Amino acid sequence: ADVAHGGQLFSANCAACHMGGGNVVNAERTLKQDALEAYLANYSSGHEAAIAYQVTNGKNAMPAFGGKLSEGDIADVAAYVEDMASKGWA
Ligand code: HEM
Repeated sequence: ADVAHGGQLFSANCAACHMGGGNVVNAERTLKQDALEAYLANYSSGHEAAIAYQVTNGKNAMPAFGGKLSEGDIADVAAYVEDMASKGWA
Protein backbone atom coordinates (compact mmCIF):
# COMPACT_ATOMS: atom_id res chain seq x y z
CA ALA A 1 0.00 0.00 0.00
CA ASP A 2 1.09 3.56 -0.75
CA VAL A 3 1.12 5.48 2.55
CA ALA A 4 1.86 8.86 0.93
CA HIS A 5 -1.09 8.46 -1.43
CA GLY A 6 -3.15 7.40 1.60
CA GLY A 7 -2.25 10.70 3.25
CA GLN A 8 -3.62 12.62 0.27
CA LEU A 9 -6.81 10.58 0.35
CA PHE A 10 -7.10 11.18 4.10
CA SER A 11 -6.90 14.96 3.64
CA ALA A 12 -9.58 14.86 0.94
CA ASN A 13 -12.01 12.34 2.48
CA CYS A 14 -11.43 11.94 6.21
CA ALA A 15 -9.88 15.04 7.74
CA ALA A 16 -13.21 16.90 7.91
CA CYS A 17 -14.17 14.54 10.75
CA HIS A 18 -10.77 13.11 11.74
CA MET A 19 -8.38 16.09 11.66
CA GLY A 20 -5.15 15.13 13.43
CA GLY A 21 -6.51 11.66 14.16
CA GLY A 22 -9.39 13.03 16.25
CA ASN A 23 -13.13 12.71 15.78
CA VAL A 24 -15.35 15.80 15.70
CA VAL A 25 -18.58 13.74 15.59
CA ASN A 26 -17.96 11.22 18.38
CA ALA A 27 -15.10 12.51 20.52
CA GLU A 28 -14.08 9.18 22.06
CA ARG A 29 -13.81 7.39 18.72
CA THR A 30 -10.51 8.81 17.60
CA LEU A 31 -7.97 7.19 15.30
CA LYS A 32 -5.40 6.90 18.09
CA GLN A 33 -4.07 3.43 18.88
CA ASP A 34 -5.88 3.09 22.20
CA ALA A 35 -9.25 4.03 20.68
CA LEU A 36 -8.74 1.70 17.71
CA GLU A 37 -7.99 -1.11 20.17
CA ALA A 38 -11.08 -0.26 22.22
CA TYR A 39 -13.68 0.48 19.55
CA LEU A 40 -12.71 -0.70 16.08
CA ALA A 41 -14.16 -4.15 15.25
CA ASN A 42 -11.54 -6.87 14.71
CA TYR A 43 -8.59 -4.48 15.09
CA SER A 44 -6.58 -7.07 17.00
CA SER A 45 -7.00 -9.58 14.14
CA GLY A 46 -5.40 -7.29 11.56
CA HIS A 47 -4.95 -3.56 11.90
CA GLU A 48 -5.13 -2.38 8.29
CA ALA A 49 -7.82 -4.90 7.35
CA ALA A 50 -10.02 -3.72 10.23
CA ILE A 51 -9.59 -0.05 9.25
CA ALA A 52 -10.28 -0.88 5.59
CA TYR A 53 -13.44 -2.77 6.54
CA GLN A 54 -14.91 0.19 8.42
CA VAL A 55 -13.92 2.65 5.67
CA THR A 56 -15.57 0.43 3.05
CA ASN A 57 -18.79 -0.15 5.00
CA GLY A 58 -19.09 2.83 7.35
CA LYS A 59 -20.50 2.65 10.87
CA ASN A 60 -23.24 4.75 12.49
CA ALA A 61 -22.50 8.41 11.63
CA MET A 62 -19.42 7.51 9.57
CA PRO A 63 -20.26 7.20 5.88
CA ALA A 64 -19.27 4.18 3.75
CA PHE A 65 -16.56 4.84 1.17
CA GLY A 66 -16.93 1.57 -0.74
CA GLY A 67 -18.81 3.29 -3.54
CA LYS A 68 -16.48 6.28 -3.65
CA LEU A 69 -12.93 4.96 -3.26
CA SER A 70 -11.41 1.91 -4.96
CA GLU A 71 -10.18 -1.07 -2.95
CA GLY A 72 -6.62 0.07 -3.63
CA ASP A 73 -7.35 3.58 -2.40
CA ILE A 74 -8.97 2.19 0.76
CA ALA A 75 -5.90 0.01 1.37
CA ASP A 76 -3.70 3.11 0.98
CA VAL A 77 -5.75 5.23 3.41
CA ALA A 78 -5.86 2.35 5.91
CA ALA A 79 -2.08 2.04 5.73
CA TYR A 80 -1.78 5.79 6.35
CA VAL A 81 -4.11 5.66 9.39
CA GLU A 82 -2.21 2.70 10.84
CA ASP A 83 1.14 4.40 10.23
CA MET A 84 -0.02 7.61 11.92
CA ALA A 85 -1.63 5.73 14.83
CA SER A 86 1.62 3.84 15.42
CA LYS A 87 3.38 7.23 15.66
CA GLY A 88 0.75 8.79 17.91
CA TRP A 89 -0.38 11.16 15.11
CA ALA A 90 2.69 13.31 15.84
C1 HEM B 1 -14.77 6.07 13.27
C2 HEM B 1 -11.49 6.05 9.68
C3 HEM B 1 -14.15 9.37 7.32
C4 HEM B 1 -16.98 9.84 11.20
C5 HEM B 1 -13.66 5.76 12.49
C6 HEM B 1 -12.70 4.73 12.78
C7 HEM B 1 -11.80 4.72 11.77
C8 HEM B 1 -12.17 5.74 10.84
C9 HEM B 1 -10.58 3.80 11.63
C10 HEM B 1 -12.71 3.86 14.04
C11 HEM B 1 -12.20 4.72 15.20
C12 HEM B 1 -12.70 4.32 16.56
O1 HEM B 1 -13.72 3.61 16.64
O2 HEM B 1 -12.08 4.78 17.58
C13 HEM B 1 -11.94 6.94 8.72
C14 HEM B 1 -11.29 7.16 7.45
C15 HEM B 1 -12.07 8.04 6.75
C16 HEM B 1 -13.17 8.43 7.63
C17 HEM B 1 -9.97 6.51 7.02
C18 HEM B 1 -11.93 8.52 5.32
C19 HEM B 1 -11.75 7.60 4.31
C20 HEM B 1 -15.09 9.85 8.20
C21 HEM B 1 -15.97 10.97 7.94
C22 HEM B 1 -16.76 11.11 9.05
C23 HEM B 1 -16.39 10.06 9.98
C24 HEM B 1 -15.95 11.84 6.68
C25 HEM B 1 -17.83 12.13 9.35
C26 HEM B 1 -18.77 12.48 8.41
C27 HEM B 1 -16.69 8.80 12.05
C28 HEM B 1 -17.48 8.46 13.23
C29 HEM B 1 -16.85 7.34 13.80
C30 HEM B 1 -15.68 7.05 12.99
C31 HEM B 1 -18.72 9.18 13.72
C32 HEM B 1 -17.33 6.54 15.01
C33 HEM B 1 -18.29 5.46 14.49
C34 HEM B 1 -18.90 4.65 15.62
O3 HEM B 1 -18.20 3.79 16.17
O4 HEM B 1 -20.06 4.92 15.97
N1 HEM B 1 -13.31 6.36 11.31
N2 HEM B 1 -13.06 7.72 8.80
N3 HEM B 1 -15.36 9.32 9.44
N4 HEM B 1 -15.63 7.93 11.94
FE1 HEM B 1 -14.37 7.81 10.37
